[in-house]
Amino acid sequence: MTAASRPAGARTLQVGVCGLGVAFSHIAAATRRDSGIVFAAAADVRPAALDAFRRDFGGRVYDDFESLCLDPDIDIIYIATPNQQHAGQAILAASCGKHVVVDKPLALNVAECEAMNRAAAENGVLLACGHLHSYGPAVRAMRRLIASGKLGALRMISTWHFNEWAYRPRAAWEFVPGNGGNVVFNQGAHQVDIVRLLGGGMVRSVRGTVGRWDAERPVEGAYSAFLDFDDGATATLVYNGYAHFDTAELTSWIGEMPRNPEWNPAARKRLAALTAGGSEDVAKESWRFGSASRLAGETEADPHVLFGLTVVSCERGDIRQSPRGITVYRDDSVETIPVANDTNYSSAALENLYDAVVCGKPVLRDGRWGEATIEVLEAIMTSSQTRSEIYLAHQVAGIE
Ligand SMILES: NC(=O)c1ccc[n+]([C@@H]2O[C@H](COP(=O)([O-])OP(=O)(O)OC[C@H]3O[C@@H](n4cnc5c(N)ncnc54)[C@H](O)[C@@H]3O)[C@@H](O)[C@H]2O)c1
Repeated sequence: MTAASRPAGARTLQVGVCGLGVAFSHIAAATRRDSGIVFAAAADVRPAALDAFRRDFGGRVYDDFESLCLDPDIDIIYIATPNQQHAGQAILAASCGKHVVVDKPLALNVAECEAMNRAAAENGVLLACGHLHSYGPAVRAMRRLIASGKLGALRMISTWHFNEWAYRPRAAWEFVPGNGGNVVFNQGAHQVDIVRLLGGGMVRSVRGTVGRWDAERPVEGAYSAFLDFDDGATATLVYNGYAHFDTAELTSWIGEMPRNPEWNPAARKRLAALTAGGSEDVAKESWRFGSASRLAGETEADPHVLFGLTVVSCERGDIRQSPRGITVYRDDSVETIPVANDTNYSSAALENLYDAVVCGKPVLRDGRWGEATIEVLEAIMTSSQTRSEIYLAHQVAGIE
């Protein structure tokens, strides 16, 4: 059942949001009012954000997370706070009997993920990973075609994302080492998630290298990684956020949002102008929930969002995601198969959790899935430090 098909009179689930920042501005815009999801309460430490929530949703507001967890009418807690708070908050929410969605990345390391999954299991609640591009309909269509076997066995996944990520405004917490503010935890959370879904989920080993190439931006802004799956398929992942080449040039100027040839060359100047006379966190404020504006030129994409360029190679053909669906390259033909753009990756986790709670459907990206992705991200960092291959032990298969 998709959110649009909820029958009149269907049950609603009350969601309490913790963290009304940039992530929630995307979620609030994407969640349909007829989805069965009601944003009924919120917690934040910024009074202005709580005022905006009360104005937009008419919900209850709290200036501390525990009070939100103790709200008896809340069914689901959505955690969109800084990464370093995810584990503790998810465990507290679960211990209060709430189902939990945690925005990406699920946590900072595998040990935190294990504790979160344990808390969910012990309290009989569901734990889901939020805001992941693998919920996207075109990514899922690619996985379905791979799994059908029509193109023969999967052999290789190649994914590239070049953009201006390193020059987007950051909150102070994102520059603190260990908080997962780097490109691996922030963006690899998406890229690894997509690649694991396409490859079936079971990664055997990882070799990775991360790069911090601009002293003015003190977090890693680039990486490359090689993933070897259990069944012998491989994946190469490349991410470069240093605002030179733009992969969108190869994808009709569509990325996570519409892009243009001037976007990367202007990135450094744009950041300097945004931060002039104020802190970088103040610049980020203009993107947060309740603020008046988003960055000029940034609107939600109408076609499918594209997280860079991803090409899947099977024995008898290649597949790539294209703006309106997927394009399939066979021995003797090239065909673009349209895919309905009926799921927004920002709201998909909540819609899926509704289906799980109300209709008994599986959680597509559950806490164990998130733990396995975090294991790959940690392995990229460790492999880069040690210049060695890292073998994995927490992998699980994906559900398309
Ligand atoms: N920025 C994005 O586009 C985006 C997209 C998807 C996911 N995410 C993820 O969402 C999370 C938040 O990122 P963001 O960019 O929105 O950050 P942000 O700094 O814009 O927002 C964080 C929010 O959490 C609030 N907060 C901090 N501590 C709190 C506490 N103890 N209790 C209640 N509220 C608290 C802050 O006041 C702020 O409103 C991160 O895990 C990030 O990876 C971000």
